Amino acid sequence: MPQDTFSPAPVRLMPSVPLSPTLEADALAQKLRRDGREVYHMGFGQAPFPAPQRLVDALNIHAHEKSYLPVAGLPELRQAVATHQQRLIGTDPEAVDVLIAPGSKLIIYAVQMAIEGDLLLPVPSWVSYAPQAAMLGQKVIPVATDLTPEGMLISGAALERTIQDARAAGQNPTKILLNYPSNPTGLTIPQEQLQDIAKVCVAHGVTIIADEIYGRLVFDGRYRSIARYAPDNTVVTSGLSKHLSIGGWRLGIGVVPKAITGLFEALTGIASETWSCVAAPIQMAAIEAYQGHEDIEEFVKDSTVIHAAVTRFVAEGLREIGIKCLDAQGGFYLWPDFGTVADHPTSEALSRDLMMQEGIVALPGTAFGAPPEALRLRLSTCDFDGAEALAFLRKAGGRLTPQDVPQFAPRVAAALDGFRRFVHAQHA
Ligand SMILES: Cc1ncc(COP(=O)(O)O)c(C=O)c1O
Repeated sequence: MPQDTFSPAPVRLMPSVPLSPTLEADALAQKLRRDGREVYHMGFGQAPFPAPQRLVDALNIHAHEKSYLPVAGLPELRQAVATHQQRLIGTDPEAVDVLIAPGSKLIIYAVQMAIEGDLLLPVPSWVSYAPQAAMLGQKVIPVATDLTPEGMLISGAALERTIQDARAAGQNPTKILLNYPSNPTGLTIPQEQLQDIAKVCVAHGVTIIADEIYGRLVFDGRYRSIARYAPDNTVVTSGLSKHLSIGGWRLGIGVVPKAITGLFEALTGIASETWSCVAAPIQMAAIEAYQGHEDIEEFVKDSTVIHAAVTRFVAEGLREIGIKCLDAQGGFYLWPDFGTVADHPTSEALSRDLMMQEGIVALPGTAFGAPPEALRLRLSTCDFDGAEALAFLRKAGGRLTPQDVPQFAPRVAAALDGFRRFVHAQHA
């Protein structure tokens, strides 16, 4: 070392935040592919369709825009989102503020940061909620769910008990994070239960963060929102990543009730000190996504039909080989239970074996808060060419059956063959 440099003391870091399991699985899948292995990627929730042409055209037109935009977002876009939410849910545009951010993930993080106290979190839940709470030094209070063909059930009475027990134990539940349709389960929360949950949360002063990022991909076509029942108590988050297949554009929305005094100001304060604003051309193009254009609505409808067929095809295939798996009600995930066909000690061991034996990348249930010994995996059913799937759907006249799926999603069908071989090998 040269004489005029100084060697520093070890840097003290925050407790390590591991790479999000979803992104880690994606990196691993890419590496295995580079190594020449056949990989069936069921680990990453990357919506598979090409970017809608209208949005690509708008982005081209605005590519030269180069200025910073207001921290809360482009006014025309915020207005378009507010009007869109009014059409979708009945939200009073005068009663909310809209925040635009680089992905809804950051809005969820900012809301968790802005509202002090502990987080009520249904189990299982999306991978990032609990690590975000941990990064903020906040505690997570698990909320039990019952996964049934009718949906992901969380009864108001049980939630109330959880809140009361937590308070009795000295914890301070101030917010709950709900996600429907859910990643990982593919299930949604039935309408009546959303109503019960809303009532309990309002009564106990618990703010609801409603992650509705998969809300437009629900197979029965009925958009559900808990904001209908507790409009003054619910922050809705969503974005363009899932129903418009443009996650890499990084555009998320937060719809924040004015009734929660100071919250919007706190969020824009956080935004101003961190991400500043979303890229100008992206915000300008995104306006087109919120104006109810027929081609955009058609794109969402077609995507939903395809996801419904693919998830049904995989769920049926898994059930045929003895794996417990409920049909999804929306989105593109399944949450099968391998307990009847495998005897691995943990879901992590199971997911490792599947990868090594069959090249199937699937996330272990532990990443979503499931106990290690529950042999749950989270499967994403997006490993197919979205453009081919859309072309197939058009030729098929807009309707699909699960039996059509191998024709436009051969890799998904091949993954199912991999599961079959894997199950056979367990019993050999
Ligand atoms: C449940 C859930 N919420 C939020 C997100 C984040 O989406 P965005 O791209 O808007 O940050 C994802 C992405 O996988 C998700 O699955």
